[in-house]
Amino acid sequence: MTPTGEVRHVEPPAAPSMDGAGVALAVRGLRKSFAGRTVLDGLDLRLRSGEFLALLGANGCGKSTALRCVVGLETPDGGMIHIHGREAGAARDAESARLRRRTAMVFQQVHLVRRRSVLDNVCAGALGRLPLRHSLTPLLFPRELREEAMACLDRVGLAARAAEPAGRLSGGQQQRVAIARALCQRASIVLADEPVSALDPVAADQVVGLLAELAREQRLAVAAVLHQPSLARRHADRVVGLLDGRVAVDAPAGALTEADLAALYAADRRPAEQEHR
Ligand SMILES: Nc1ncnc2c1ncn2[C@@H]1O[C@H](COP(=O)(O)OP(=O)(O)O)[C@@H](O)[C@H]1O
Ligand SMILES: [Mg+2]
Repeated sequence: MTPTGEVRHVEPPAAPSMDGAGVALAVRGLRKSFAGRTVLDGLDLRLRSGEFLALLGANGCGKSTALRCVVGLETPDGGMIHIHGREAGAARDAESARLRRRTAMVFQQVHLVRRRSVLDNVCAGALGRLPLRHSLTPLLFPRELREEAMACLDRVGLAARAAEPAGRLSGGQQQRVAIARALCQRASIVLADEPVSALDPVAADQVVGLLAELAREQRLAVAAVLHQPSLARRHADRVVGLLDGRVAVDAPAGALTEADLAALYAADRRPAEQEHR
């Protein structure tokens, strides 16, 4: 960020179109308030296929809200969300639902069914495109789906654990299962909200490294909220920093400066300072 508080863009200014070549996700002017308090204040964000974007910013700056709006877990008050060049409206119409199935969210708390096998948990990623009966009786997962899920598990290095109850795996392994489930969903955009905040440093590095590899090798568009700038610098292509619900930093990961970080995380102190005035 510049001393005057302007967005520090290190890349050339982005082209104005929402659906330029390779743009998987384009968010324009996204607004969201809760109980009259503005959380997203005209957020602009673009994510390309094959790109791994790290999303940084102080607690409460709106990172989760932004991702939740994209996948349809929150309804924005304003702005536009384009997925592969098509507008994903707030309405629950079939086209928006189909577009949103191209996006998968990975959370800090891994939502696996702990007693079910690792493979069944990965198969569950496909439920959105299967007839309803499969969600009631997962034993009926078709053979082709089980093969596809096995290939997804293999991609995250866990094929050998397919038959075990998911709850028996370590935290890092469970997060990799959640990523395999996103692959089995055939998502082309993966949004990971603090995927490694509960993991030890070695597991965290492995999971973030896996997300980066998937972006590059499978041309997925991946955005991950991270709280460790070192992981962002090591693995991400680009870093976007949010401050007060807007983009304050947009830079190649290697160009992220200490001044950028100080500006982004200084926000954590602001309410306390104001209270003392
Ligand atoms: N469903 C909600 N109802 C009311 N306030 C919310 C809700 N979701 C988020 N907020 C508030 O919006 C702000 C931004 O939250 P969030 O997007 O989770 O921030 P971040 O992920 O950057 O830490 C916070 O102050 C949070 O308390
Ligand atoms: Mg959050």
